Formats: sequence, structure tokens, C-alpha cells
Amino acid sequence: MRADETTHEEPGHHWKDPERVRDFAERMDPRAEDRAEQFRLVARIIGAPKDAALRILDVGAGYGALGAALLDAFESANATLLDVSEAMVELGNERMKPYDGRYSYVIGDFAGGVLPPSVGTGFDAIVSSLAIHHLPPNEKRSLYADIADRLNSGGWFLNLDIVAPDDAVSGEVYRRIFEEDRVARNEKPWPTSNTDRSHHDEMQPLADHLLWLRDAGLTAADCYWKRFGTAIFGGRKP
Ligand SMILES: C[S@@+](CC[C@H](N)C(=O)[O-])C[C@H]1O[C@@H](n2cnc3c(N)ncnc32)[C@H](O)[C@@H]1O
Repeated sequence: MRADETTHEEPGHHWKDPERVRDFAERMDPRAEDRAEQFRLVARIIGAPKDAALRILDVGAGYGALGAALLDAFESANATLLDVSEAMVELGNERMKPYDGRYSYVIGDFAGGVLPPSVGTGFDAIVSSLAIHHLPPNEKRSLYADIADRLNSGGWFLNLDIVAPDDAVSGEVYRRIFEEDRVARNEKPWPTSNTDRSHHDEMQPLADHLLWLRDAGLTAADCYWKRFGTAIFGGRKP
């Protein structure tokens, strides 16, 4: 049985399947340029000097794409990369070789809406890309609170993730554009239908996220960039 066919799986644990990890990397590599542009925006929102010795945490870091982009943007920064999937971490350790000494993986779980204690605290920036949407809403809310607790004053939390449309018509637009983009990229269909994907993906509207960010005590809680169902949103610790 594939990991994604189990029925009582913790949110996001389907990524432990090495086949899914290979498939994800194959899909993301041709999108590297578009993704790099989004990651540069994350760096620009953080807005620290290039030589700032930032402590960065990437939640659900995967093979390290966002973490690596931030290590490029901030030459003296170091990054903790949290991920539950050993297969992702293995690929990440291959791809992150140019950053040896500046990153470390923590294999751990944020399901339940709490970061594992081993990631530590006192971060200048906590980021995430395409990972937190797996959590149910109450766990997202508690994760945002935990993240806010682990930020230094003035530190940013920025989440680049998929969000739910506000209504059925905008949802149809999101789906159509997603499909048109996929075809234009010549990318094979995702292995499961959109309906089946809802087993793994738990999206809520942006307004909910902004509320949870404010509840977590973050200021400047805002959506800083959005393209249909993908957005960069977050806030800053006062
Ligand atoms: C779609 S991938 C995105 C990876 C990376 N952030 C990127 O944008 O390339 C989602 C990642 O989140 C991790 N993840 C999902 N749920 C998790 C959980 N509960 N705890 C820790 N990591 C999790 C997965 O293992 C996977 O590597």
C-alpha cells in the first residue's frame, strides 16, 4: 500500500512516500524560475541587510528550495529545515550541499499544530512553502501561535501557500487557471483528482489566515502577494 492510501494518516505524512517526493521534485524543477521569483519576494519582505546573520526556520522545508533562496539572499544567515519526510531530507541533503555548514535538518512533525521542541526558538524569520495547508484549521491556528512565540522581536513569519477561494465562482477560476498553467507547462496531471486531493489539502480563505496571524499577536498581518490560489501572507512580531 502506498503511503498516500492510508486512511488515518497524520496531515502531510503522505510525503514520506519516496515516489511522491521524486514526483514533486520532477514537477517543481521546471517551475524553478517562477518559484525563485516568489522566494525573492519573501526575502524582500524580510528586508534585512544582505550580510545580516539571520536565524531562519523553514517549516515543511522539503528539499530546501525556499531555505536555499534565503541563504542566497542573506549571506551570513543560517537555516533550520524542519521536515517529517526522510525521503525529502535525503534529497535535501543532496541539493543543499553548496550550503554545507549553514543549514541543518530537523526531522520532526508539526501535525497537531505544534512545532517539535528540537527546532528551538529565537528565530529572526520563520518561513514555509506549500506545507502548512495540510493541517486542519484549528491546527493551523495553533501552529501560527507557536511560530509567533518562537520569533525574535521584529522577526517575520511568511507563509507561501495555497488558499481557498471565497466562493464557487472564484474557485472555478482558480481551478481553470491551474489546469491551463499545467497544460502550458506540459506537466502531467496530478496523480489524484482535485476531489481526492482534498484528502491531503485543507485550504481556507485568506481572511481566516489573517485572523489567525493577528490572534497569534503578529502585526502587519497581510497578504503580500497572490496569484489565484497561491499567496504569500504573514506578519511581524512586534
Ligand atoms: C509540497 S512539499 C513542499 C516542500 C518545500 N517547502 C517546497 O516548497 O519545495 C510539503 C513538505 O511539507 C512536509 N510536511 C508536510 N506535513 C508535515 C508535518 N506534519 N510535519 C513536518 N513536515 C511536514 C512534507 O514532508 C513535504 O516535504
